[in-house]
Amino acid sequence: MNKKILVTGGLGYIGSHTVVELIESGYDPVIVDNLSNTRPEVLDGIEKITGKRPVFYDFDLLNKNHVKQIFDEHPTLEGIIHFAAHKYVGESVEKPLMYYENNLMSLINLLNEMLNRDIRRFIFSSSCTVYGLPDELPVTEQTPVKPAMSPYGNTKQIGEEILTDTAKVSDLEVILLRYFNPIGAHPSAEIGELPVGVPQNLVPFITQTAAGLHPELRIFGDDYDTPDGTAIRDYIHVVDLANAHVRALEFLETEKNKNQVEIFNVGTGKGNSVMEIVNTFMEVTGVKLPYRIVGRRAGDVPAIWADTTRAETVMGWKAKRNIADALRDAWRWEKKIRHIQ
Ligand code: UFG
Repeated sequence: MNKKILVTGGLGYIGSHTVVELIESGYDPVIVDNLSNTRPEVLDGIEKITGKRPVFYDFDLLNKNHVKQIFDEHPTLEGIIHFAAHKYVGESVEKPLMYYENNLMSLINLLNEMLNRDIRRFIFSSSCTVYGLPDELPVTEQTPVKPAMSPYGNTKQIGEEILTDTAKVSDLEVILLRYFNPIGAHPSAEIGELPVGVPQNLVPFITQTAAGLHPELRIFGDDYDTPDGTAIRDYIHVVDLANAHVRALEFLETEKNKNQVEIFNVGTGKGNSVMEIVNTFMEVTGVKLPYRIVGRRAGDVPAIWADTTRAETVMGWKAKRNIADALRDAWRWEKKIRHIQ
């Protein structure tokens, strides 16, 4: 059986963890990554964990000739998992054209090449950001999609629409995975998150502060309408999230009654506040984390978490790890890259 899968952005945070899970499930991933937000050494980490070094192209998906070359050199691809995209909300507000061009043209270039060759399976990295400020919690896949709050979020919404429209006029089989908040690292500490510059996201900022890179964590707001006043998110271990992609591929291979476009929330189904994350981090690592409450961050929703019933009942996937596991693994990774004992 041919199990070759193209993984775009396969050296990024979620991509690299997915490559590991693919290899461990018997797939043969081919990676394309332009290294815009990661490093080539991630390939060494993948090799250390799996004993295999996947084929890697340092190509940009905006270059149509390069996209064509990959498909020419791998005529037996069974499907594509498309992670490659810019991902920072704030940066997207500053540089909207860069986000629209990069995130949408790369998708279009891939789809054109796929349709030319009758490659059908496509898994897309979408985001819970498509639900905006939800009227009901937890959010299900039927919860209405709201106008995007940033150009980044809009590229995810438009990406979903491009795939849905293309599926209507082709044999494309699409799975849209709406990620909640991925955190943690591979338990081996061979791969993890490598934020460039000052991290915008909570957990890398926590681990960097614990490692002494920042004087304190700023907690953005404690006056939300939540039990402890801090904002709530659904934090999912990156290895669980990676596994959802493997399960999605298996679902496309085996299930007969699937729709041409399937949507799944990928979270844990549990919401945790910023304060709970901070306290759990201190509990599991024994490290005291300096923090200070400051004002709310513009654009943050007070609370969002997933209803994951659909992923569980239709696709047979469920998160297995909790925030304690994820925070322990995130800290193990941070210590390794900072050479802390
Ligand atoms: N937070 C802090 N201090 C920090 C960083 C974050 O208090 O230094 C808080 C935020 O205000 C928020 C929570 O921690 O309440 C989580 O923030 P993150 O930045 O880690 O995650 P977000 O939920 O804001 O963002 C995530 C993804 C985005 C995606 C968005 C959609 O990182 O890519 O969800 O909701 F667009």
